[in-house]
Amino acid sequence: MNTQLIEAVRGIVVEQFKSHGADHDFDHILRVYNMAMFLQSKEGGDADIIACAALLHDISDHKLNGGIMNDGGRVSKEILLKLGQTELFADTVAKIVDGVSYKGASVADEAFSLEVQIVRDADRLDAMGAIGIARAFHFGGSRNRPFYLADTAPKEHRTFEEYANDKSHTINHFHEKLLLLQDRLHTKTAIAEGQKRHDLMQEFVDAFYADWHFMGYKESVTAKPGERY
Ligand code: ADP
Ligand code: NI
Repeated sequence: MNTQLIEAVRGIVVEQFKSHGADHDFDHILRVYNMAMFLQSKEGGDADIIACAALLHDISDHKLNGGIMNDGGRVSKEILLKLGQTELFADTVAKIVDGVSYKGASVADEAFSLEVQIVRDADRLDAMGAIGIARAFHFGGSRNRPFYLADTAPKEHRTFEEYANDKSHTINHFHEKLLLLQDRLHTKTAIAEGQKRHDLMQEFVDAFYADWHFMGYKESVTAKPGERY
């Protein structure tokens, strides 16, 4: 592996992530990097491409860059060319960075290479399981969203814009994304690890509803029709 290049990319990424919240901080990048390298050791694929794409995969996220969609590839390419990499290498990583993100329940994932599958699987595994639950509630909390609104059903998003602009409650995010991820993992190694994380989230969501409705919460509140309280 080109450790000099990977150290240089890491140095650039860590600077940009210093002020990010726990749903998307440098710890997320490191977990995705470590998982991607683990998947690479089992599944194969170009290690340098996977390492760079894992480190750069959230470099210009629309939620953090003022709303520009699919900008990470452009920024990644610029970084890699500055670090002396070839056009071909930079373009290959850039295409993966733009292809990694979940874009909505009805938006298909393009599996154009083993490398994109591995980085995408690594990113998705980090959105699942115990850490996935923690990240989701941190995300909702940072935007002051309610945990759950019984009368706001989950949606099946048909476009990235529709998905990205949805400001629903956090439990909906489990139905709109997190519980759908297991069936959208690519590699055998990720599918095996994902199953445990998926089952834990399902158990959590079931327990959440059971706790919520334990004392007939909704029925016991004297809310006006159509109002939350
Ligand atoms: P990806 O890394 O696949 O692009 P995102 O950037 O969409 O994922 O999300 C980053 C983290 O924030 C993930 O853990 C995700 O589940 C969480 N998140 C994104 N949107 C929401 C939401 N509407 N409610 C709760 N958590 C969310
Ligand atoms: Ni990510």
